[in-house]
This record gives sequence, structure tokens and C-alpha cells, in this order.
Amino acid sequence: MTSATTPRASYQRCATCGTEYSDTDASPRCVSCGGLLEVVHAPPVLRGADLRAVFAARRSDGPGSSSGVWRYHELVMPNAGDYVVSHPEGNTPLLARDRVSSYAGVSALLLKHEGHNPTGSFKDRGMTVGVTQARRIGARAVACASTGNTSASLAAYAAQAGIPALVFVPAGQVATGKLAQSLAYGARTLLVKGDFDACLSLVQEASERLSIYLLNSINPFRIEGQKTIAIEALEQLGWDAPDWLVLPAGNLGNTAAFGKALREVHEVGLIDRMPRIAAIQAEGAAPFASSYRDEFTTRPKVRAETVATAIKIGDPASFDRAVTAIRSTNGVVTTVSDAEILDAKAVVDASGVGCEPASAASVAGVRRLVKEGIIRPSDRVVAVLTGHVLKDPGALLRYHQELTPPPAFANPPVEIEPTIEAVERVLGSKD
Ligand code: F0G
Repeated sequence: MTSATTPRASYQRCATCGTEYSDTDASPRCVSCGGLLEVVHAPPVLRGADLRAVFAARRSDGPGSSSGVWRYHELVMPNAGDYVVSHPEGNTPLLARDRVSSYAGVSALLLKHEGHNPTGSFKDRGMTVGVTQARRIGARAVACASTGNTSASLAAYAAQAGIPALVFVPAGQVATGKLAQSLAYGARTLLVKGDFDACLSLVQEASERLSIYLLNSINPFRIEGQKTIAIEALEQLGWDAPDWLVLPAGNLGNTAAFGKALREVHEVGLIDRMPRIAAIQAEGAAPFASSYRDEFTTRPKVRAETVATAIKIGDPASFDRAVTAIRSTNGVVTTVSDAEILDAKAVVDASGVGCEPASAASVAGVRRLVKEGIIRPSDRVVAVLTGHVLKDPGALLRYHQELTPPPAFANPPVEIEPTIEAVERVLGSKD
């Protein structure tokens, strides 16, 4: 622990009681009160237009700074030095697709596609910083609990850094693509007979007892990396903030990261007005949305159930800091049903973009909020697609080939005899 007067570039602070820790302290929680920590950086020397110019110049720079995370290192981890473990990651596109816009009911809708990251999800932005921190502190092993994407990302970055990785996933509840990645990248993969919430409590105990560095998003360095989704989107928009940033919400690390990013870029004069955050939960996994409806006076836990396995979480770890994110951006939280998620996904997929089920919650959420009159059709909206279409082929194939009656946007395959007549018949048929 360091005293508040010791000069330092960055340090950690308990978001609950304010106790300060050095930036190389490995504890994931405050030892005084058990609260979650946050990273505080000395304000960058440059501000506003000068800082924007520095970031812009790095876009064509060498591999380290051309990463869409490390380009912003002043706001992420100013003192990473030679420890950086970068794929690189980030630099994901902002896509406009008419079909998705008209489905959602907003003409100025842009899709920030985090599925373009190296392991196919936004987790790589947090993991490049988390694994860099693991190297900085000399961690002997790293671990996480996961619904599949965090574990895929941890496995890849730990392999690159040469640090052993241990991942805890709920047995039978992880999408095929994600489980395959964790095995392929060489992580020791534990299939826990329980849900994600059980995995998270087990990994916290294991990392404490066995001195393994914990890299779930309760780790504040993960949050620093994930801030760059919002920062990069704002830069792509010429720092002209949209009205809304919309994202799927599960364990709430990303919601917390967006709130912190927006407060910080506003403070250093990169944007002059705050976008509003809309966090979208699946109806069957919506403790944060229930709490929002109660003006955050309650903190419910639920037994989560949803087709969007990435966000099938009943007791989100970053609850309190996500409340801060919603409050400080005048944000909203809402829910969408599994059917809405799958239909929105089918529309995103059929636009040629593609995403995994949880990601489509953001597009379904925009549509829902437009119907409720909260987002106006003329608003400028960025919806985050958090993961790649190939992460969950099982859910995708079920939608198109198995559900009865076939859902609105089903595109079932057609089995035919190997004859030209059969092909002609298919071409001649209406559907
Ligand atoms: N979208 C995808 C594709 C995810 O994998 C996750 C979280 C979220 C959204 C929600 O983000 O948890 O920060 O609110 N996946 C975690 C995992 C839980 O283990 O991969 P969050």
C-alpha cells in the first residue's frame, strides 16, 4: 500500500471506501472492506485537441501503438514499458447497415463490431492489459471464470506471454466456438458442475488460496483496456459524441468500463458532451434491470436462464460500478426476450455483418427503446456487437433449421437430389 502523498503515475483505489493501493498490488479486492478496486492515472500532460492529435498520429505507427488499446496508453496504462503483451487488438470497425437500422428504427445506427478482435470478442481489449499487468507483477499463473469469451481471450494472451492459464467454465453451458478456443490455446480448462456464478465464486477462492492472478473483469486493469471500445468509437466519430452507446450487459464489467471511459474522456476535454449508456440484459438474466426499475435501491440475484449464454449471469460482480456508470451518464437499463435477441441476431447476420446471440441484445435493445420512446428515431446511436458470429454455431443452426414454427427470419437449408431440375425447382420456389 502507498500513502496518498507518494507521487506516482497510477495507483489503485477502492471504489467503496477509498483505500489506496500501489498499481502493482495483486489483490483483486480491497483488504479493508472487500470492495472492488479502480485504477487512477495521473492526468495526461496534454488535453483536448493536443491529445487527439497524439492519438491520431499513432494510427499509422508501429505494432505496439497501432493496437486500438495501446494507442491510448495515457488513459489505459501509462507505465507498461516493455511488459506489453499485444496481439495487437482493437481497431474494430464502425459499420452502417441499412437493413439493421430500419429493423431497429434508427436511421443513424452504427455497429461497433468487437467480434473483429483477435479471439473474436471485446475481451481481448481487457485481456491485453490484464496479461500485461500479470507480467509486470511476475504472476506465476492466471485464472478466470467465464461464460466462454473471457476464457478464450485469457487462454490466447496467456499463451503469448508464456504464463500458465486456468479457466473455470460452467459445464455444458459454453458455446462450442468458445470452448474450442480455450482448449486450442492451451489453457487448463475446468468444466465446473454449476453455473457461471458458481464458477466465479470458486475461482475467487482458488486464486486467493493458490496465489494465482485473477483476470475476471473484477480486476481493474481489465476495465482499463475495455474503456477503449468507447474511446475508439468516439475517435472514429471525430470526437463528436453520439446520443447513445448501447451494449449487452451480463457481469457488468463492460458497462462499468464504458462509464469510466466517458467520465475520463470528458474530463480531459476529448468530448464536450456525454453520450447516454443503454445497458441491455436478457429477460431471464436481468438482476441489474430489476434494480434499475427500483431506482437501484435493491440488489437482486437471480437464477439466470437465456439463450444468450455469454450473458447468462444472475449475480453480476461489477454491480456497484455499473450503477455509477448508468447514473453518471443519465443512462438506462432494459431487457429483451430470447426471441427478440434471436430475431435481431438473424437480421444482423443477414446484413452480412454477423454476431453472437448476446451481441444482438444491443440491437434488440435499441429497437425496444425506440418503441418505448426512449431512443428517438433521429438519435445517433452506436450499438456494440461484442462477439463474432462463429462463437455460437449451435444457437445459430437451431434458429435456422430446428425451431417450430420457424422463426421470422429463418433461412433453412434445402436438401436436394444432385440434378439440375432440383436446382431449378429451388430457384423457382418462392421461399
Ligand atoms: N457480450 C459477450 C459476447 C460477452 O461474452 C459478455 C460477457 C458480455 C456481452 C457482457 O459483458 O459481462 O462485461 O457485462 N462475457 C463474460 C465471459 C462474462 O466470461 O466471457 P459484461
